[in-house]
Amino acid sequence: MAIDKQAVRHDLLSEQGSMHLDHAGAALMPRCVLKTQIDHLELEAAVGGYEAKRLRNDQIEAVYDSVARLINCQRKEVAIVENATVGWMMAFYSIPFEAGDRILTAEAEYASNYLAYLQLARDRGVVVETIPSTATGELCVESLKAMIDDSVKLISVTHVPTNGGLVNPVEAIGAVATANDILYIVDACQSAGQMPLDVNAIQCDVLSATARKWLRGPRGVGFLYVSKRILESLHPPMIDLFSAVWVDVDRYELRNDARRFENWESNYAAKLGLGSAIDYALDIGLDNIETEVTRLAEILRDKLGEVPDVSVHDIGQHKCGIVTFSMAGVEATEIETWLRENRILVSVSSPASTLIDASKRKLPALVRSSVHYYNQETEIDALVNCVKAIAEQDG
Ligand SMILES: Cc1ncc(COP(=O)(O)O)c(C=O)c1O
Repeated sequence: MAIDKQAVRHDLLSEQGSMHLDHAGAALMPRCVLKTQIDHLELEAAVGGYEAKRLRNDQIEAVYDSVARLINCQRKEVAIVENATVGWMMAFYSIPFEAGDRILTAEAEYASNYLAYLQLARDRGVVVETIPSTATGELCVESLKAMIDDSVKLISVTHVPTNGGLVNPVEAIGAVATANDILYIVDACQSAGQMPLDVNAIQCDVLSATARKWLRGPRGVGFLYVSKRILESLHPPMIDLFSAVWVDVDRYELRNDARRFENWESNYAAKLGLGSAIDYALDIGLDNIETEVTRLAEILRDKLGEVPDVSVHDIGQHKCGIVTFSMAGVEATEIETWLRENRILVSVSSPASTLIDASKRKLPALVRSSVHYYNQETEIDALVNCVKAIAEQDG
């Protein structure tokens, strides 16, 4: 079903603002998401934070149902956390790694995740290995199969990397993890909100995501899914009086749901905003969103590809809403600044954010543009025309 562009654009706070093409950074919230948060902040200001929480408890609990609907899991498998990184780390650092355990990951793995692998390589002697990619750029499932043995403790991949339009085959990877009974983590930070996600189809044990990107939610909130299959076997690396109960002087009991990865204090306005953003996306339909995002991204890639001296760097057979490019002789930061001066917002992806992939492909810093379903073709044209003007001036 086609998205009602007029309606979704009406839900933007200002049509007069910048042209927003940085959804891989942070998206624009629809009015209802903003209002949900303002309403809660006003209630907190009027009656106090604890009373506001008590009054809005049903709505706060409903956010867990919204996450569960978004990714097809049970509410007890959901934790709502400060951001994707906190969620991912709480799960990752719960895994009881021993020296010699192998972690298999993707070439375009996100820097923060890879840094955590390196830390455990240093501290506990785990071995980190990257799974080769196919000629078209996605993780090669056949190579993954060939790397499996009893020492593989974890397969951990980023679904959509931060540095381009690649979509890794998370379902096929999940089938390998399940067949070999290996823990499987998916970083869905750049995919949640721009395409359908089903943890049962992916067969992952853990999945993390953030609110502010493709879900169009607030900053400072994200969610973590931990499968009920492994939930109670994972002891969080840090606990508090929310994740555990102090039952005796020398004993505590952890919660038996995914909220063992949360802690007591929470930004309830942001949490409610996340719920509102998810409900908004679900109303539009993730299939519809993916179709429109892919269509717009293809147009942008094709048009950028025609500009002299511009190289588009997205790889993979299946590409999403992130479109990255560089221009011979002009730094990505210069292009970003030029675009901003023309009211077009994009971001820059540095090689250090995905070092292995960037080194292998010898990528410079890239201009990262990213389209969402409410963008219009006129905005794409504005970006392309501006890039053309930069190329002409430079040439
Ligand atoms: C692939 C990927 N994973 C994780 C993150 C971190 O998300 P957060 O900043 O919400 O912790 C990002 C942020 O850009 C990302 O691109």
